[in-house]
Amino acid sequence: MNLRSLADAIKTKKLKQAIDWNGALPSHIAIMMDGNGRWAARRGLPRSAGHYAGMQTMRETIRNCLHANVKYLTLYAFSTENWKRPAEEVDYIINLVHQFVTGNTIREINDSNIRIRFIGDISRFSDSTQQVMKNAAAVTGANTGMTVNFAMNYGGRSEIIHALKSVIDDGKEDLTPDEFETYLYTSGCPSPQLVIRTSGEKRLSGFLLWQCAQAELWFTDEMWPSFSELLLYRAIYDYQCRRRGFGS
Ligand code: IPE
Ligand code: IPE
Ligand code: MG
Repeated sequence: MNLRSLADAIKTKKLKQAIDWNGALPSHIAIMMDGNGRWAARRGLPRSAGHYAGMQTMRETIRNCLHANVKYLTLYAFSTENWKRPAEEVDYIINLVHQFVTGNTIREINDSNIRIRFIGDISRFSDSTQQVMKNAAAVTGANTGMTVNFAMNYGGRSEIIHALKSVIDDGKEDLTPDEFETYLYTSGCPSPQLVIRTSGEKRLSGFLLWQCAQAELWFTDEMWPSFSELLLYRAIYDYQCRRRGFGS
């Protein structure tokens, strides 16, 4: 263990002790995993290396959230705008997700009692990709430890229009916000209380526009592949500090 990771381990332990685990914890955390390309560029590596590293960080973060007793985790993996990127990059990202939901990884996820869902318009992906996504959702569908929503070809405005179309199809003329929520891709999940965006960008980029109405936003300059348990705890700790006395 080098000095930096030793210092991080100590800080992580301290933060873990500082968090009030019996207090208000975010049951749903949503993360915009941004900065893979810049992480790679700073190391003289191709963008694909950043996405690969980001995928490993995503795995660790799922595990860390499970240990932190987070019940719902939504990960922005691919936006409706990301199709504008070079085809090679798009294919690489989709292929990574494909790998994630097949083989050993999905077995590990299943063994950890994690339920996988995909939110977004997945009909734009190839048949085989859609198939592995549906399969992963079906295989893990009864798991109760934590739900991970992967936002793939997701855009908040498209989601709202998609929901509206279903409302119209159902012939509804009047409905409450709670009823409307049942038409969203995230139906059944509580709204996220905490949204994390890495890489220093401070935009929503269309992420969970309806669901984030009351969410706390937390930003870090670290690029996604450098996101760590320490930063997750820091976000949860800051969330608790902000919420202490909230509304009372
Ligand atoms: C986030 O990293 C991953 C996806 C959007 C798929 P980026 O690829 O956006 O990395 P930067 O923002 O260009 O550094
Ligand atoms: C947002 O990141 C989407 C994901 C994290 C998947 P982008 O890098 O695509 O967003 P912009 O272009 O900075 O808004
Ligand atoms: Mg980006």
